[in-house]
Amino acid sequence: MKTKLLTKNDIGIAAEILRAGGLVGIPTETVYGLGANGLDPEAVGRIFTAKGRPQDNPLILHIPDPSWLERYCRNIPPAAYALAEAVWPGPLTMVLQRRENVPNAVTCSLDTVGVRCPGHPLALAVIRAAGVPVAAPSGNLSGRPSPTCARHMLEDMDGRIDAILDGGACGVGVESTIVDLTTSVPRLLRPGGLPLERLEEALGTVAVDRAVTAQLSPGEKPRAPGMKYRHYAPRAPVVVVTGDSRRTARYIRRNLGQHTGVICFDEYAGLFPGCPVEAIGPVSDKARQARRVFDALRAFDSTDVDAIYAQCPGSGGLGLAVANRLKKAAGFQVVDLGEGEL
Ligand code: TXA
Ligand code: MG
Repeated sequence: MKTKLLTKNDIGIAAEILRAGGLVGIPTETVYGLGANGLDPEAVGRIFTAKGRPQDNPLILHIPDPSWLERYCRNIPPAAYALAEAVWPGPLTMVLQRRENVPNAVTCSLDTVGVRCPGHPLALAVIRAAGVPVAAPSGNLSGRPSPTCARHMLEDMDGRIDAILDGGACGVGVESTIVDLTTSVPRLLRPGGLPLERLEEALGTVAVDRAVTAQLSPGEKPRAPGMKYRHYAPRAPVVVVTGDSRRTARYIRRNLGQHTGVICFDEYAGLFPGCPVEAIGPVSDKARQARRVFDALRAFDSTDVDAIYAQCPGSGGLGLAVANRLKKAAGFQVVDLGEGEL
């Protein structure tokens, strides 16, 4: 199969491919998604094949307007409407009870479904033109860093899908925040583009699933099935160093080997001469770190590094999502040097 590159003038073509059961790479504000008609089980099945995605990892449905929630969800709590009003279109996925019309192929037979209204004009235009909810995981091969531009998606998906709609670089850079609203206390299943603090403002207390910050023990089941897989991983093993950024920079410098790559904050980029360095932004600019983190992880695959050290932001704001992606890329290999910047 030849993968076509589409532009913003090709919304109609992208929608037609979706309606015909094909696969299209779609830009969203978070990362590029691999879209299929979410009501067509065969089309949805093709997503799993193209990505090499485990069969027990459900997909989220993308809708063009909050009013579509009721088509696919039932027993929707008032909190869901309040959140939709406050943050959609935007980087939030809500897990709600599903209706029968949502195929098992999407939910992997769970009785819940994740739904999101993406904050990107091209994504919204394609979904509207297709007239169906679009099932879309991130557009990477399973286990690889999520793509934040069309070129990265093409790297993974060339020849495996019908087309990619190029919408430029993603503004947020990490995937959506996932909150489960089917429990009495809402639960954060995946930190993402919408900070936890913003969820708490809207919902009050939010429980944080253990899989967000820690490696689960063998046999322990996360509530978002995807959180149990090693993820976002470059080919070389990653070690994340947490704590005050000056201390973590010094630690990394002391431990450099012959072929070590470094992910660091801009302030420290000069400390590692001779090493491939990916600076992900200033210590205090977490929005920039979120935009850069997947590109940085991907960049080392075209070098000969055999180990990667990463400085890690504190957990405030988007830092929780950036830290989660780095730790997952590291398989939770973390060196903790104590308290750091928030
Ligand atoms: O920003 C995003 O969310 C991107 C863009 C393309 O929209 N999509 C994305 O999808 O990140 P994916 O499939 O890569 O991650 C979705 C996560 C997986 O960890 C999956 O296990 C979880 O959502 N998930 C999906 N349905 C669920 C459900 N009913 N209950 C719990 N977790 C669910
Ligand atoms: Mg993904």
